[in-house]
Amino acid sequence: MSAAIKFNNVSLNYGNKNDIVEVLKSISFSIDSEEVVSIVGPSGSGKTSIIMLASGLETASTGSIKINDHEIVGLKENELSEVRRKNIGIVFQSFYLIPNLTAIENVLLSLEANHQYNREQDAEELLGEFGLSHRIHHLPGELSGGEQQRVAIARALINKPKIILADEPTGNLDSANSESMIDLLFDYTKKSKTSLIMVTHDNSVADRCDRIIEIRDGQIV
Ligand SMILES: Nc1ncnc2c1ncn2[C@@H]1O[C@H](COP(=O)(O)OP(=O)(O)OP(=O)(O)O)[C@@H](O)[C@H]1O
Ligand SMILES: [Mg+2]
Repeated sequence: MSAAIKFNNVSLNYGNKNDIVEVLKSISFSIDSEEVVSIVGPSGSGKTSIIMLASGLETASTGSIKINDHEIVGLKENELSEVRRKNIGIVFQSFYLIPNLTAIENVLLSLEANHQYNREQDAEELLGEFGLSHRIHHLPGELSGGEQQRVAIARALINKPKIILADEPTGNLDSANSESMIDLLFDYTKKSKTSLIMVTHDNSVADRCDRIIEIRDGQIV
C-alpha cells in the first residue's frame, strides 16, 4: 500500500547560522491511507510544525515529504497549493472562518478555490449532516464555538480530501462539544476512507486512534 504521507529525515530550523533553532530534528514516519494517527507531546515539541510541513504551509529545511507519492519539498507556491487543494483538508484550533461570510458561504468558498461552482446543495447537505441545517445562513459571529468548528470541518471536507490534518481541533471547545466533534471526525474519516492526522492533548482521543506518534523536543520517541 502506498503511503498517504511520508516524511523522510525531515528537519525544520528557524533563524540563521549563529542563532539557529532546531524545531524538528531529522524525523521520519509514514501514514497509510485510511490510517488514523494522533500526534501528542509537550507544548513546543513540534506538533504544529509537523502539520504545517505536511500541508506545505511551511517549508522543510532538509529532507523529503511525500503526499500521496508527490514530493512537495521544493515545489513552487502554485504547485504546492494545487497538491494541497487536491489532497488535504485542514482543521485548526482557531476556526479561521471568514467573519463576513455565512456558514454556507464559507464552505462554498473552499469549493470555489477548487474551481467547483454551483454546489450549494452539496454544501447544504454536508452542513446538515453536521447538525447545522438551521444555521447555514448565519455569520460565524452568530454561531457557538462548537457550531463554528463544525462549519470549519465541513469546509475542510467538502472537497473530499484523502488526508485530513487537524491541529487540536477541539482545543477551544468544552468537553461535550469536543466529544461530538471527535465522533464526527472519526465517523467521517471511516466512511470516506481518508487518513486522519490529529494533534491532541487529550489522551482519551489519542487512544481511539490506530496509532500514536509522540514528539519530544523535535524528535519522535
Ligand atoms: N517562526 C518561528 N521562529 C522561531 N521558532 C519558532 C517559530 N515557529 C515555531 N517556533 C518554535 O518551534 C517550536 C515548536 O513549535 P510548535 O508550534 O510546532 O509546537 P507545538 O508542539 O505545536 O506546541 P503547542 O502544544 O504549544 O501547540 C517551539 O519551540 C516554537 O517556539
Ligand atoms: Mg501547536
